[in-house]
Amino acid sequence: MTVRVPLHLSRDASYDILIDRGLLHELARLVARHCPARRYAVISDSHVAELYGPTVMRVLKDGGLDAELYPFAAGEWNKTRDAWGALSDRMLEAQFGRDGAVLALGGGVVGDVAGFVAATYYRGIPFVQLPTTLLAMVDSSIGGKTGVDTSRGKNLLGAFHQPRVVIADLDTLATLPAVQLAAGMSEAIKHGVIADADYCASLERDRDAVMGKERDPAALERLVTRSVEIKAAVVSADEREAGRRAFLNFGHTIGHAVEATNGYAMLHGEAIAIGMALEAALAERVAIAERGTGAAIVHLLERFDLPVALPGDARVDDLIAAMRHDKKRRGGDLHFALPRRIGEMCGDMRNGWTTAISEDIVREVLGQ
Ligand SMILES: NC(=O)c1ccc[n+]([C@@H]2O[C@H](COP(=O)([O-])OP(=O)(O)OC[C@H]3O[C@@H](n4cnc5c(N)ncnc54)[C@H](O)[C@@H]3O)[C@@H](O)[C@H]2O)c1
Ligand SMILES: [Zn+2]
Repeated sequence: MTVRVPLHLSRDASYDILIDRGLLHELARLVARHCPARRYAVISDSHVAELYGPTVMRVLKDGGLDAELYPFAAGEWNKTRDAWGALSDRMLEAQFGRDGAVLALGGGVVGDVAGFVAATYYRGIPFVQLPTTLLAMVDSSIGGKTGVDTSRGKNLLGAFHQPRVVIADLDTLATLPAVQLAAGMSEAIKHGVIADADYCASLERDRDAVMGKERDPAALERLVTRSVEIKAAVVSADEREAGRRAFLNFGHTIGHAVEATNGYAMLHGEAIAIGMALEAALAERVAIAERGTGAAIVHLLERFDLPVALPGDARVDDLIAAMRHDKKRRGGDLHFALPRRIGEMCGDMRNGWTTAISEDIVREVLGQ
């Protein structure tokens, strides 16, 4: 399956997302075609490098490509300037030039760090996304956002840098822990809510096929493909995040605050599940969403064992401060991307893509 991401700002930057089983075994051919370079830096994290590094390096070398593997320690807490600096230094020491390219082999953390290395190395060299988590396949590998976290917040330093191609080998999902699979489902459910009610219904139907022991590849392929189509359509309509792309933030205003106040102890997809449940409740509270929308979203999230309520020790004051990125400022509206119903968001060019809600109402919903 191939989904094209047409980019209008710079048409030659349009790229394909390839989704299939066994694609890592065809990597040399695919990379040579979509991202020709003299040398490749394969950036990966310690888990993924151990699982798939040997295969990837063998396939690239057998295909006559010059490649080196640069792993860094796995985990969100390593999505830092230090990791970015160390990887860039290793490439400089190995004398990668402007004619080199980066292959990002891993989940969203690898994609973001490796993408940022590629965005800044010699002011930007080409890169390829090789997503190995469901979250990375359906979400983070598409759209060209790269970057690292700082102690002041997530993704605060980064750059837009579009990949030359995204190659999603569904076979890699076989080794993904179940909680990570569910975390990826959270973003897939988000895609259904913002754009496609039938897709939400199909996720519900495919639940056992996807989450069961066999992880049905056909069901996974349907799911990844539809999510990718939705994300690609939104992103290509709004490359620099000025408008419609705000819809992709559904669940993320509260979700990011949950992540931040929780010391990032929760998976991103889990925090977003809580965020979607609460933002849907908010949408019903201000009569933007049809009644029952929140309950339907909660039901779907729970089917995938995702959390839908704030952690017991969450403090509303801290969440509000995190949403404002500011401990001192108080009062004034907060802005949310809200659904009208499953499959349709509230917002347009004329009236804005997000809705302003008073802090009092947000507090009320968070406190329930
Ligand atoms: N750039 C964007 O547009 C965008 C969008 C959404 C999320 N993100 C970022 O993505 C990150 C989350 O990504 P993630 O959920 O993929 O986390 P991750 O990259 O940390 O991967 C989760 C864990 O699974 C392991 N893993 C990866 N693939 C595996 C496989 N096939 N088998 C077994 N284990 C595997 C990893 O080593 C890691 O321990 C966050 O930092 C988030 O900010 C970015
Ligand atoms: Zn997200």
